[in-house]
Amino acid sequence: MNKNLNPNKIAVIGAGGVGATTAYALMVQGIGSEIVLIDVNKDKAEGEAMDLRHGASFVNPVDIYAGDYSDLADAKLIIITAGAAQKPGETRLDLIKKNTGIFKNIVSSITEYNKDGILLVVTNPVDILTYLTYRLSNFPANRVIGSGTVLDSSRFRSLLSKNCGVAASNVHGYIIGEHGDSEVPVWSLTNIAGTPISQYCPICSKACGGDDLEQISSQVKNAAYEIIEKKGATFYAVALAVARIARSILRDENAVLTVSSLMESYYGIEDISLSLPTIINSNGIDRVLELPLSKKEEKAFKESAAHLKENFEQLEV
Ligand code: 2OP
Repeated sequence: MNKNLNPNKIAVIGAGGVGATTAYALMVQGIGSEIVLIDVNKDKAEGEAMDLRHGASFVNPVDIYAGDYSDLADAKLIIITAGAAQKPGETRLDLIKKNTGIFKNIVSSITEYNKDGILLVVTNPVDILTYLTYRLSNFPANRVIGSGTVLDSSRFRSLLSKNCGVAASNVHGYIIGEHGDSEVPVWSLTNIAGTPISQYCPICSKACGGDDLEQISSQVKNAAYEIIEKKGATFYAVALAVARIARSILRDENAVLTVSSLMESYYGIEDISLSLPTIINSNGIDRVLELPLSKKEEKAFKESAAHLKENFEQLEV
């Protein structure tokens, strides 16, 4: 670990909707004491930083400013949100070509100034870009993280919470695999109050008979399409997901989060990044959990990995 890193400094590359809202979520939750915003459009970064800074009297002390790549030198955590965003009707994978080019420049600018921090990729397609960042940066795999399906797992818990009338914090469940169309809901490990959902439903007074549950996973998978269709972009929930990951890193929490990371023979999969429940602390990825999936879930997870690999192999890296 580089002694010169400031353990409370976060850089956000990309001051668009996701980057600016992430900075806001970090600021409001008191995560990080120094936050630098970097964008090719300097005025946009300046404007967002000023707007955020003017809320200083309402939050914990935090130094927020617009900077450039040289400001990354002592950043503990570098969050990358820059790149083209999905338009209505586009899939996340449709963005591959545009964002691969952008990432080649971003990653080489980062590594010019910082080789010891943790990289957190948010831009889509997040799994492909996380793997690309790992390959281009030469950082160890534990320090290259993608926001992956942390957001999808939260969408899953929030929809179950509403359906079942139980606080989302008491509903536990994971979406694994690609952050995208091939993602996999892990129903076999989903539980409420420690009780597997299959055993919880019969004792639940709401008596929906579990019929609504199948719809929930497809609503999770299609949530971004629906929101983009209605409001043009998604940024609040993804920013909260990113802030959650950042908190676990800066506060060394060992939280279990479904981030995207390099697969190292998990379920026999390697050389691609995608999401599994993962312990996150100040080292970045501490360990990936190979939980007991059902046969059907394991098969779907492997298919998701194969689908991402195919897409990565089409790139000229
Ligand atoms: C989302 O799921 C678009 O990946 C973004 O909201």
